[in-house]
Amino acid sequence: MSEIILTGIKPTGKLTLGNYLGVLKHLPETMNRGKPYIFIADLHALTLPIDPEELRQNSIDIAAFYLAAGLDPNKATIFLQSSVPAHAELNTIMQNYMYMGELSRMTQFKDISAKMGISKNAADAHIGLGIFAYPVLMACDIVLYDSDIVPVGDDQTQHVELCRDLVNRFNHRYGDILKMPKAEKRKVGARIMSLSDPTKKMSKSDPKGDIFLKDDLSVIRKKIMSAVTDSGNEVKYDMENKPGVSNLLSIYAATKGISIEEAEAHFAGYRYGDFKKDIADAVCEDLAAFQERYKHIIETKEYEKVLHQGAEQANKVANQTLKRVKQAVGLLDLD
Ligand code: TYM
Repeated sequence: MSEIILTGIKPTGKLTLGNYLGVLKHLPETMNRGKPYIFIADLHALTLPIDPEELRQNSIDIAAFYLAAGLDPNKATIFLQSSVPAHAELNTIMQNYMYMGELSRMTQFKDISAKMGISKNAADAHIGLGIFAYPVLMACDIVLYDSDIVPVGDDQTQHVELCRDLVNRFNHRYGDILKMPKAEKRKVGARIMSLSDPTKKMSKSDPKGDIFLKDDLSVIRKKIMSAVTDSGNEVKYDMENKPGVSNLLSIYAATKGISIEEAEAHFAGYRYGDFKKDIADAVCEDLAAFQERYKHIIETKEYEKVLHQGAEQANKVANQTLKRVKQAVGLLDLD
C-alpha cells in the first residue's frame, strides 16, 4: 500500500545521536513505502529564544542531514516549514479546535516550565504562547499533507495523539475533511538516553553525555568509552536495573539495524570495556560515512535547489488541504 509519510525536525541546538537513531537514519526506507514529506520545522524553533544566525545555520544543517542520511529529493519532498504559508494559516484556524486543558497536559510543555525551575504562575508569565500552542502547529504540519504515518521518537508521540484527537473533533463537526494520521515509533532507538545519565533522554539542549552528529569521531569515541554503565559485569538489557548498559545496547542495535536480543547475543561474555569499544566502532563507522556526505552537501550547496523544489511541491499539496478546510468551516472562497 502506498502511504503518505511525514516527519520534521526542529532546527534548535545540535542534532544528536538520538535524533539520528530515532528517526533520521531510517528515513530512506520511507521512500519505498509511499510518498514522504520531510521538513525542517523552523517555525517551531522560534518557540524558544534562538539567535537568528544560529537558526539559519541549523536549518541548512538539517536539510544537509536529510540528504546525507540518503533521502532522494526526487522521491521525497524536502522543505522548510516557513516556505509553505499554509502551515501558519491553518494554525490560525485549528487553534480554535484545541483546548487549553489538553495543551497544558503535554509533557514537553510541562518539562520546559519545570526546567526553568519556576512555578506554574511564573511560567504563565514567562513562557511564550508559541511553546504552549506548539501541538496545534504540529497537528497542522501533519494534516496538511493527508499524512498516514508520522515516524517520530518516543517524546513526540503524545503530540501525534493530540493531533488524532483534533482530527476526530474536526471531522465530527464538519464531515470527513482531515485524514487520520498515526505515529510510528521504532522498536529499537525510539528513546536514546544520555550517556552520562541514562535516566534522562539524550536531547539537543543538554550537552552533557550527548553525542552530536557533527562531533569529531575521536570525541564520539571518547564519550562512548566514558559512558556510565552499571554495577555488575553482565551485558544484559534491563532498563530498570541496568539503564546504562541497556541504553548502550539500544544504541548498538539501532546502529546495526538488529534487535535487542541479537545485540545481547552478540555481546554474551563481553566485559564492559570491550562492549563499549565495539559500540564506539559501530557508531563511528556509521557516522564517518554520514559526516563525509554531509560535508560534501554543505560544500556544493546541493540543499538550495532541493529546498526550492520542495517548497514548490509542498505548497501545491498544502494549499489544497487548506482550501478544503476553509470551505468546510465557512470561509468565503472567491476563486
Ligand atoms: P525534534 O526536533 O525535537 O526531534 C526530531 C526527532 O527526533 C526524535 N528524538 C529522539 N529519538 C530517539 N531518542 C532521542 N533521545 C530523541 N530525541 C529526539 C524526536 O522524537 C523527533 O521525532 N515537534 C518535533 C518536530 C515536528 C514534527 C512535526 C515531527 C514539528 N512538526 C510534525 C513530526 C510531525 C520536534 O521538536 O522534534
